[in-house]
Amino acid sequence: MISNKINSGINGNIKIPGDKSMSHRSIIIPSISKGVSEINNILMSDDVLHTLNAFKLLGVKILTEDKKIIIHGKGLDSLNKSNKNIYLGNSGTSARLLTGLLASQSFNTIIEGDKSLSSRPMNRIIDPLKLMGAEFDNSSGKLPLKIIGKKLKNTQIDIDIPSAQIKSGLILAALKTKGSTKIVERNITRNHTENMLEMFGADINIKHFNNETHITINGNKELSSNKIDVPSDLSSSAFFIVAALINKGSKISLKNININPTRDGILIALKKMGARINFKNRRAIGGELIADLDIQYTNLNGCELNADMAKLMIDEYPILSIAAAFANGPSIFRGLGELKVKESNRLEMIKSNLLRCGCDCKIIKDDLIIKPSKEYHVIDNKIRTDFDHRIAMSFAVMGTKINNLKIEDSESINTSFPNFKEIFNSAGGNLL
Ligand code: S3P
Repeated sequence: MISNKINSGINGNIKIPGDKSMSHRSIIIPSISKGVSEINNILMSDDVLHTLNAFKLLGVKILTEDKKIIIHGKGLDSLNKSNKNIYLGNSGTSARLLTGLLASQSFNTIIEGDKSLSSRPMNRIIDPLKLMGAEFDNSSGKLPLKIIGKKLKNTQIDIDIPSAQIKSGLILAALKTKGSTKIVERNITRNHTENMLEMFGADINIKHFNNETHITINGNKELSSNKIDVPSDLSSSAFFIVAALINKGSKISLKNININPTRDGILIALKKMGARINFKNRRAIGGELIADLDIQYTNLNGCELNADMAKLMIDEYPILSIAAAFANGPSIFRGLGELKVKESNRLEMIKSNLLRCGCDCKIIKDDLIIKPSKEYHVIDNKIRTDFDHRIAMSFAVMGTKINNLKIEDSESINTSFPNFKEIFNSAGGNLL
């Protein structure tokens, strides 16, 4: 994909697709509930389709029509052994959540993924599951992973790594485990699994103590079916929000955006930089906070963010870095270690590609420092993405201010936002 400079800004009412994290959970949870669930506005991207296909292989009847799916769930004990290995493509969320769920089944499963997913750490979910008695046939701590399904034992597990995927994998394992499993989370991470399970009638109790969240699940309680309307994805919105903020003459409206406070850090960070973002019609649906957003071009300030912010916006640092590259002062983002184990080493990818664009940028330990210039002289117009969708879309946004940026391996965008190019161009973008 080639990203070219634009002249008249990003404008209009932009329809952002469904939330990716919620879409995965909207397949997993109804599949193990009893009854028929209808899911509207589900994101039909590659990552989500891998989760959907996994549950079909596990014997769940799922009917698809455009962005609506109907799932015929038959309860906690209803999944069947897949007759082949389950391929999860690039999707870390599918891999970590399914590992937890499948560890507590009565059959074995092998899950596998593409090159990038096969290099990402799985011990972060394997090790805590082993505390529940889970078994795996794997020595690498990476995919492919053979999960030996068995009855797990209830216990208390403390999670130190800030990861909603680990937490959610453990919660899913606990649903089919006798007695009460307690998960102590030392960091705030997105809570869509907990919200949706409450809606589906799980016996789940959540208590907050200063910086800890204690989640207790009483297992073996059947879930009942429900209807889900998936809101639009804040992480996907962020590309449009930043494109509008950095291009003169821009004014956009985004409707029905999920601004769940466990992952709204990008909005807090951009506000701190002075961004003109207005929130309208705040409302709560299915435990999620939703709002409509109006965004206008802003001459942004640089900002300093501490490590705690990283938990609330882990996926948004690539696009926030683009905003920082057009601010009127330097920015420092601290505590970004987790970015190294995403779809690519995102910390390195941000730095190396900003340097290619001529932007002064440094990594000191896990902190990222960006010193913007008034004008950029591109050193190398080939943007390397290591097949990372968020790096590709972020540098497509960078390209609205620089001519002829070549975004390599941009097909990765299909993992989260298949019609990104079309929507971006219809709002004033110039992507070829
Ligand atoms: C996700 C959790 C985050 C995030 C990922 C989606 C989820 O990963 O980066 O894109 O849906 O639970 P971690 O749990 O590894 O932080």
